[in-house]
Amino acid sequence: MNYDINATRADFPILTHKESNRPWIYLDNAATTQKPQCVIDRINEVYKTCNANVHRGVYRMSREATEHHESARRRIAQFIGASPEELIFTRGTTESINLVASTYGASFVQEDDEIVISAMEHHSNLVPWQQLALRNKAKLRIVPLKEEGSLDVEAYKTLLNERTRLVAIAHISNVLGTINPIKLLIEEAHRVGAKVLIDGAQAIAHSRVNVQEIDADFYVFSGHKMYAPTGIGVLYGKKSLLDAMPPYHFGGEMIEKVTFESTTFNTLPHKFEAGTPDYVGSVALATAVDYIDRIGVENIANYENHLLTHAVEQLSSIEGVRFIGTAKEKSAVISFVVEQAHPYDVCLLLDELGFALRSGHHCAEPLLDLLGLTSTLRASFALYNTIEEIDLFAEALRKVLRFF
Ligand code: ALA
Repeated sequence: MNYDINATRADFPILTHKESNRPWIYLDNAATTQKPQCVIDRINEVYKTCNANVHRGVYRMSREATEHHESARRRIAQFIGASPEELIFTRGTTESINLVASTYGASFVQEDDEIVISAMEHHSNLVPWQQLALRNKAKLRIVPLKEEGSLDVEAYKTLLNERTRLVAIAHISNVLGTINPIKLLIEEAHRVGAKVLIDGAQAIAHSRVNVQEIDADFYVFSGHKMYAPTGIGVLYGKKSLLDAMPPYHFGGEMIEKVTFESTTFNTLPHKFEAGTPDYVGSVALATAVDYIDRIGVENIANYENHLLTHAVEQLSSIEGVRFIGTAKEKSAVISFVVEQAHPYDVCLLLDELGFALRSGHHCAEPLLDLLGLTSTLRASFALYNTIEEIDLFAEALRKVLRFF
């Protein structure tokens, strides 16, 4: 495998952190990722050398800050195969989805129309659609899952019809790790004239995404899950759709001409970016994109797959462990429960031993209800995790389970 794990680890200063003199082992990457030194340095550099509001000043530093911000947009657009005017900066996945639900949804989803989501959606790709459906008297249709946690594609096809306005589905489930066949799902939705939003929060740092190749109408993701800071995210939308949508927030920068009586709005992408944008976040996100590209997203995916296989092997040998989500196409997210104890208690004890995992419903309560669970443990890996960490984790879990 063409991948230097030691070099990668050296890029992340937090990985030398210790808790009670023990190495700290971070296995909660589906929640957020750690930041490489180049991203941390870039944030510092912007504040130290080029901090001025963008799109507003005529002085040199403001023009330079604007150029950094817009060049970041171009870089990130290129990363996903979009054109810069189709790339809207938001605060993250949640805001991107709310934007589409509030604007596209409000204008184009009418009484008796249908919105299709899947049973594995995160609350952020469920509640905005549910609330839109309630407001506009539309219907929310749920694609069921198969036993192993993959999407029931045949059932999906039967849910689609001429009333389907929008399909909103995760690229990768944050609970089950299932990788959905989004290209096929999009193709099927387009057959009935529906638009498709893909929640790419769990995919963008772990697999190659090209919005044109998959023909997504909207693709959304967060910077903080791809080694960039919190507070910056992306909404990609096809130009024709973004043009047809009304603005989301009103304020500075998103306008063309304002009088006391009326306002005309700016062109894309600024029409959807009211207020001072996170111009430091955008630049740091572009730095994170450069970082991912330097390593190569395919190398990352292969390496993480290797971690997943090893972790499944290790955890399978522990008595009482039951995996939640065993789809064939799976990313490096492992949810599991243990017979011996509640996930919360196991998580707390693992924390005592230096392991950071998540327990709970992972913001997917309806999915957990369907599975007859209230909580799972979840270990999720990133490009800096190691086989040794997984071995230590399995050993720690064995030790913890002996307490119960
Ligand atoms: N969506 C994040 C997670 O799954 C917060 O943990």
